Amino acid sequence: CTHVVENVCVVGAGYVGGPTAAVLALHNPNVKVEVLDRDPRRIQQWKSPHLPVHEPGLDDLVRSVRDDPENGSKYSTQRQPNLNFSCDSARVLAKADIIFMAVNTPTKMFGVGAGCATNMAAFDGAMRDVAAHAKPGAIIVEKSTVPGGTADRVRKMLSAHRPGVPFEVLSNPEFLAEGSAVQNLTVPDRVLIGSAATPTGRQAARTLAGLYAAWVPKERILETNTWSSELAKLVANAMLAQRISSINSISAICERTGADVDQVAKAIGMDARIGPQFLKAGLGFGGSCFRKDIASLAYLAESLGLDDVASYWRQVNTMNERQRDRFARKVIDRFEGNLVGHKLAILGFAFKKNTGDTRESLAMEVIRSLLEERPAEIAIFDPYCRPEDIMRELEIACPDISERGTIKLHTDPHLACSQAHAVLVVTDCDQFRNTPGKKPRWTHNTSEPTASQTCSSDCTDCRSLSARPTTSEPIEWPRIAYNMVEPKWVFDGRGLLDVAELEKLGVRVDSVGRRA
Ligand code: UGA
Repeated sequence: CTHVVENVCVVGAGYVGGPTAAVLALHNPNVKVEVLDRDPRRIQQWKSPHLPVHEPGLDDLVRSVRDDPENGSKYSTQRQPNLNFSCDSARVLAKADIIFMAVNTPTKMFGVGAGCATNMAAFDGAMRDVAAHAKPGAIIVEKSTVPGGTADRVRKMLSAHRPGVPFEVLSNPEFLAEGSAVQNLTVPDRVLIGSAATPTGRQAARTLAGLYAAWVPKERILETNTWSSELAKLVANAMLAQRISSINSISAICERTGADVDQVAKAIGMDARIGPQFLKAGLGFGGSCFRKDIASLAYLAESLGLDDVASYWRQVNTMNERQRDRFARKVIDRFEGNLVGHKLAILGFAFKKNTGDTRESLAMEVIRSLLEERPAEIAIFDPYCRPEDIMRELEIACPDISERGTIKLHTDPHLACSQAHAVLVVTDCDQFRNTPGKKPRWTHNTSEPTASQTCSSDCTDCRSLSARPTTSEPIEWPRIAYNMVEPKWVFDGRGLLDVAELEKLGVRVDSVGRRA
């Protein structure tokens, strides 16, 4: 027996909360889904034509289920809208049968556990609101990645704030990756639900499973206890990151020998026990998850007195940092230690393709090292990042950056690379490839409204959107090569480029995991 679910609330309108809410709403037309955030600007963006998150397929999806559907969606419009966005936490929480917690849980940067532990300030703040307003019997679901044992903590917190009121706490970690969020949510490898090992805990798990069963095959919905579920989330990310650090460590060997890291990866990936995924050598992993989750796993091990386990996992992060340092060092060495007077162009700022997320950007780390060498100019192009986000990240990383005046942001990759002494490919965007015919897995959503189609001229979202390119046309390497200046180095940090083809254009190429 399960509870009837009429209202679902998702707390946190970010990369996880927004897409998750939209997919839940799409597949459960009889359930009202409301997304809460305390930032009114963010809520407004989710209600506007320009969502705060760039994800392939998301615009169409949100438009089809949002309370103000527009025409042109590929989904049916013959349905009642059932997705809303709001700042009114008291009203929304009070009627929710299920409350998903999808707020930020970054690494704690101060006090005990600084640099390793999880900063639970936003999560706890949101939980206090939930404790104050949730209706008796509501099911609270941890969607954010949280330290192991958080469900127990939440249970204690709820019984302290609302003694005697029944609540169930579930763990239901998110496995979506940025840039493929809609795809991952629509066809998940598995849905993991952890519950208390009590009859009411299992019943709550089945109620939540009922929402997913609307589109996920039953055999893909896995029920465990809450600790297993919380730990499995951290371990999934740690294992994926470990594969990247492992292949990157091999890339360093390849660069000093005659081996090619892509050939090695292909050869080992054909072993069914190893498999081909997450073996692409590059600049290391960026983004807001892997480094943080490994730090959290190591912190957990350490707090259990398992220092060997902690240092084993920390090494995955250490190897990751070394990979970027090695790349920046290679650039500097190619210029014999002197970047003064040289222009460097950076292609890509986001931590991977198909996202405009600038957090934990690999480019930023590389730029920080290169700036130490006082180059004349660093020109940056990224197809999706907003200029203000790039500048904010750079200002945090290098506080005196605006005084140095060496950074220029471009909306055209060819202009960014014009007169450059070196071009650095930092993000794995398909449009940076020089191999025509290789179609990107996802293309830019051409149905995305343009500034002229939608808002008034003073809409800040539109202004920043119009500063971004409207297509993901492949860049023209012959044009770039022609307009570069000697020594015309191209550093391929992602192993994206066909080196032999590029060299025909008269540039020198240094690619990760290959001896140049
Ligand atoms: C990751 C996981 O893949 C998701 O399953 C998980 O849900 C998510 O973290 C999370 O915990 O929220 P994400 O960080 O969005 O997703 O991106 P990934 O596609 O995993 O890429 C992470 C980084 O590794 C990127 O910088 C990517 O370029 C790099 N990478 C990935 C490689 O360098 N080589 C590879 O073979 C794969």
